[in-house]
Amino acid sequence: MLSLLLARRCLPRRLACVPRRWHSAEAPFEHLNPVTEQDVQQFASILPPSSVLSTLPPSSTAASELDQYNNDWMGKYHGKSTTVLKPKTTQQVSDIVKLCWERRVGIVPQGGNTGLVGGSVPIHDEVVVNLSNMNKVRSFDPVSGILVADAGCILQSLTDYIAPHHHIMPLDLGAKGSCHIGGNVATNAGGLRLLRYGSLHGSVLGIEVVLPDGTILDQLTSLRKDNTGYDLKQLFIGAEGTLGIITGVSILTPPAPQASNNVILALPHFDNVLPLYKEVKRQLSEILSAFEFIDRTAYDLAVKHGQGRGLTEEEVDGAQCFVLVETSGGRRDHDEEKLNDLLESLLGADQPLITNGVLSQSPAQFSSLWSLREGVTEAVSKEGKAYKYDISVPLSTFKQVVDVTRDHLRSKGLLHDGAVKHVIGYGHVGDGNLHLNVIAEQYTDEIQDALEPFIYELVASHRGSISAEHGIGAMKTHALHFSKSDVSIALMKQIKQLFDPRGIMNPGKVIEL
Ligand code: FAD
Ligand code: MLT
Ligand code: ZN
Repeated sequence: MLSLLLARRCLPRRLACVPRRWHSAEAPFEHLNPVTEQDVQQFASILPPSSVLSTLPPSSTAASELDQYNNDWMGKYHGKSTTVLKPKTTQQVSDIVKLCWERRVGIVPQGGNTGLVGGSVPIHDEVVVNLSNMNKVRSFDPVSGILVADAGCILQSLTDYIAPHHHIMPLDLGAKGSCHIGGNVATNAGGLRLLRYGSLHGSVLGIEVVLPDGTILDQLTSLRKDNTGYDLKQLFIGAEGTLGIITGVSILTPPAPQASNNVILALPHFDNVLPLYKEVKRQLSEILSAFEFIDRTAYDLAVKHGQGRGLTEEEVDGAQCFVLVETSGGRRDHDEEKLNDLLESLLGADQPLITNGVLSQSPAQFSSLWSLREGVTEAVSKEGKAYKYDISVPLSTFKQVVDVTRDHLRSKGLLHDGAVKHVIGYGHVGDGNLHLNVIAEQYTDEIQDALEPFIYELVASHRGSISAEHGIGAMKTHALHFSKSDVSIALMKQIKQLFDPRGIMNPGKVIEL
């Protein structure tokens, strides 16, 4: 049997490191110029030598040192930039951008490079402007909770900075140890707290941006209310670096909850998720802060790859999926009582919606339960190569979408023996956001062609969105029309044209010009 499996694995398969419709390596951008040695000399007159990484003279950076900037977190998108610039100040960013504008050199703004749609790496040889050296907190007002920070501050470091003042960041995501606040704003990142604190379109109060011609747009206001005409900052939130480089962010941070608890619930059927959500909302009301979903395979992968301590076999017996509920409230004993009451009523019901529930009993257990959910992304990347679809669809269709995709791949002969290992679903139920992941041995054209446009058509048939939170990047430019009307796309192009008529800022991302 083993030899049969091995023999099958050795059969020649159509493999492609750079699948054709993701990055067309052959055709460079016709409207842009490559970086030259003279450009590098000019960059070196703006930045200290340690901030110019280039394989071109007068720098002498080894090509391998640029790998971390040229390749994305998933190992799916690969650029060929010769030059990475790491400015420390807004003025330096402006000077670099001016030069690129004059020379018509493409720029990729880059934060922590944790993006999942290929937006953060070059398509060809664009210059990477990496913000990691812009990492200072500019101010924090503990009374209003308004934080003003350089765009390159890592999300976790901002969380740590404001923690002694009993405030938290309004967003939290698995990539918090690497992603930048500027990258979060540029992608309008969602994450695990959106249910409670809403999107960045609400909590970002102001931004500072370097426009494609090098102009500094200072909108770094710290006002809760400002109704003076068009709210320009909103255009940059979620623009994925196509309209300018965000250099500073002013953001409203909420007070830290006095008490946070969580519980993981095992469900016998997916059909129970919605009635459970309704019941949890009814019973927990104002203290409910997260309602996250993982299907059985996603859970098993998280456990397999060491993301949090799994439940006992008895506890997960027969579970088809799991829900993680978090509460954040004002009084621990009050919240614990509510959670205990919830569990008791769920387990004691005539037709229980859950088969089991495990309440965290300590900060370590609280983190461990969260890891089972947050760690799915990491587990997936350890398991294989992920095709990640980050979609908004009606909650009632979550399971159907996963099942239909799996059946479709099976019908194409691609499941298991055919190179796809798993099709899983997890995500933010409270936000109507399903993460549909197809995990394969390799990225291949065959799987890609089976998945697209199939999945986008499926999403459109449910009147959903092809991107709930990760963005469009390089991955979905060709698919934008599944979620946006022709009129919307035409307006987006006009906005791009207005800000960036030379098309230098993150070319090839979000919209095809
Ligand atoms: P990058 O990856 O560097 O860039 C992302 C995009 O923003 C690119 O288009 C880039 O050009 C642009 N950009 C970056 N910085 C700037 C800037 N200063 N100015 C202008 N444009 C800029 N996303 C979610 O929404 N929710 C999640 O729960 C979530 N969880 C994740 C968990 C893991 C383990 C991983 C690896 C990723 C996750 N993501 C999630 C995706 C990713 O972390 C977010 O999109 C994040 O906001 C990207 O931040 P970054 O600093 O890494 O940006
Ligand atoms: C998540 O919710 O875990 C993130 O958006 C990342 C992912 O989709 O894997
Ligand atoms: Zn997510």
